[in-house]
Amino acid sequence: MRAVTTEEFVPVGAVADIAPGSFKLVKFDRWEVAVFNVGGTFYAIDDLCPHQGASLSDGWLDGTTITCPWHAWCFNLTDGSMTFAQFTRVDTFDVRVENGQVSVSRTPRPAPQRS
Ligand code: FES
Repeated sequence: MRAVTTEEFVPVGAVADIAPGSFKLVKFDRWEVAVFNVGGTFYAIDDLCPHQGASLSDGWLDGTTITCPWHAWCFNLTDGSMTFAQFTRVDTFDVRVENGQVSVSRTPRPAPQRS
């Protein structure tokens, strides 16, 4: 496992700016990332729905499930998996909270291996 440097995380805002039950949309490099606060735990996903490109952050949040506003595909914020099938997923990003500041990894987590 390689070391992770600070430069690999992008500051996206203060904890106080992303209240529980809300999100913040941030852009860096080629990504638009939605950072959600679910009961004080932060999750970051690619905002682009893999179906036809809707903004997932415009959807409905229920616990750690986000439902796409266009055709209701549902994704788990924790790992990007679909909740009703496994043929696609959204990218997820590691999140750090330090000194009241939320940061997101510059690159997404590797996709889990399918068995
Ligand atoms: S664009 Fe998201 S489900 Fe169709």
